[in-house]
Formats: sequence, C-alpha cells, structure tokens
Amino acid sequence: MSASPLRQHLLDIEDVDDVVLPLLFARAAQLQAGAAEPLPPTLRGQVVATLFFEPSTRTRLSFELAAQRLGALAMPFDIGRSSLEKSETLYDTVQTLAAMGVTAAVVRHREDAVFAGLSPQVPLALINAGNGTQAHPTQALLDAFTLIQQLGALGKKTVLICGDILHSRVARSNVKLLQRLGAQVIFSGPPQLLPESDPHAAAGSAYTLPLDEAIPLADAIMCLRVQRERHQPSLPWATASYLSQYGLTAERFATAPPHCLLMHPGPVNRDVELATELIAHPRSLILTQVRSGVYIRMAVMEWIAGVLPGAER
Ligand code: NCD
Repeated sequence: MSASPLRQHLLDIEDVDDVVLPLLFARAAQLQAGAAEPLPPTLRGQVVATLFFEPSTRTRLSFELAAQRLGALAMPFDIGRSSLEKSETLYDTVQTLAAMGVTAAVVRHREDAVFAGLSPQVPLALINAGNGTQAHPTQALLDAFTLIQQLGALGKKTVLICGDILHSRVARSNVKLLQRLGAQVIFSGPPQLLPESDPHAAAGSAYTLPLDEAIPLADAIMCLRVQRERHQPSLPWATASYLSQYGLTAERFATAPPHCLLMHPGPVNRDVELATELIAHPRSLILTQVRSGVYIRMAVMEWIAGVLPGAER
C-alpha cells in the first residue's frame, strides 16, 4: 500500500514484509549490543523531521535520539509556531520540508486518515508515529522485539492485551504483528472499551475473555492506557473502581504464571489500568520497552533510508 516509486514509507505494520521483519530485529539487536561503542554513522546525510500533533515523550525522543546517534540530523518541528497555524495544509508543509532536503518525516496525528491526505508521491519518506486509533507500527515492532528477547520465538505464547482496546492504535498494530509471529492474543477490558464491531474485522482475530480468566493463561500481559482524550462522552468510571474492576492489581498479577511478563507502552495512568506497585516489578518490562524503542527506530530508519543490512536499495 505504501511503497511509493519514490520512497519506502512505514504507515502500518503490513508495510514490513516477512523478509524485512527479521532483518529489523537482527539489526536492532546488533545495534543494542554495540551501544557502548560509538555507533556507525549509517544515516549520515539524512534529515529526519518529527511532526507531532499529539503529545509524546518516548516516541518522539527515541526517534530523534536514534536518528542523531546514527549520524542523521533530527529536526523537531514546532507545530504551534509553524505556518500550520496560518492554515497551511500538512501536505504543503511536507512538500516544503522535502524542498529543504528533509529525507523522512515522522508524523503523529489525531486523525485516522492523516496519511490518506498526504499523497503517496510525497518526495520524502513518511513514518507513522501513531495515527488516531489506527496504527502505531514502531510500537508494535519494539514490543515484539522486547518479547522475543525475553521469551524466544513467540509461537505458542499467549499475550493478553488489556484495557482500552477500542481507542488503541497500539493494540491494533500489536495484534497483527503478534499473530503473524505465531502468538495467541487475548483481549480483555470493559465491554464499552472493546472493539464495538466484529473484532475479527476491527483488530485481527483475537478473542476476548474476562480479565480474571485471561490472566492465568498469559505469558505476557500488555496493559493499555485508558485514553480519556478520545472518549466521547467521558469515562463512566471513577478512577479507583476502574482499577478494581478492570485494572492490573498485585492480587491479579499473582494469579498469572510465575514467568509472566508485564508490559505497558506508556504513559501509565498510575492506579487506573496498572497498580503503582507493579510498575517496577522484577518482571515489568516497561523501561526495557523504552530502551528497545531506540534500537528498533534506528533499524527502521536504516531500512527507510535503504541501508538496512540485508535490505539495501
Ligand atoms: C502510545 C500512543 O501514543 O499511542 N504511547 C506510546 O507511543 N508509547 C499509547 C498511549 O498513549 O496510551
């Protein structure tokens, strides 16, 4: 869908085919292993602009850090002080950046359809850093990479994704990639926050189970943030009752298998979807996910630039 004659884009996880996927994981592992050394300047000459129309800490900074550590220039784009405030379209903004020599634009936007409005012919590479409720491909890559490093191959492993699935681009990209890698995915959450329509059509073929039935089956539990900013009308639960009814408490986590890992893409609503005392649990991977994100994004930008080992263009 998004391979243009001009550029390789990364708009959803399907853009990463079965040849490139293991190359990305292998490269991220290699870069991570060499991280104490000066990293190779494989992205020298690249200019990566980050256009974030929604708040972000991890995703934006890890893209910028990853670009710079491999020798690219990272250009944080200040939307509030740009001509977008003078009604310039995003399409014209992207054309303007390309004319200045920007080679890739990392875009996060509240609109599901943001990339449809940008011609696939734009003369730079587009990397999706989260569009509305639709997709967040680099988060899925870093989550799968983190899990494989801990569990080995994901065939026959069960990953429980719980919380606000309905509004989660992380869930949508993750279920596709985890199932492709052979994992069984279970969704769990408040009925109002599970995909409304057929979950097979909406978000892959995960089945849903009540949380207390699902936890004992899980090799890993991925908690998702309650996305209040996308709720219309606003959340019907008081914070404390969300945790006791649908959140991961220490008592619930104790019913998981003894090896079960805990994940969250961040940011965490403490004591809403996840009890504070679990954040630093010995089997919590929350900060490991953040660290993996830097190396996965390095590998992704090498692929986009045509210099990923094994997938050079
Ligand atoms: C997620 C996002 O923005 O989609 N965060 C992230 O990228 N680490 C999840 C969230 O905001 O809840």
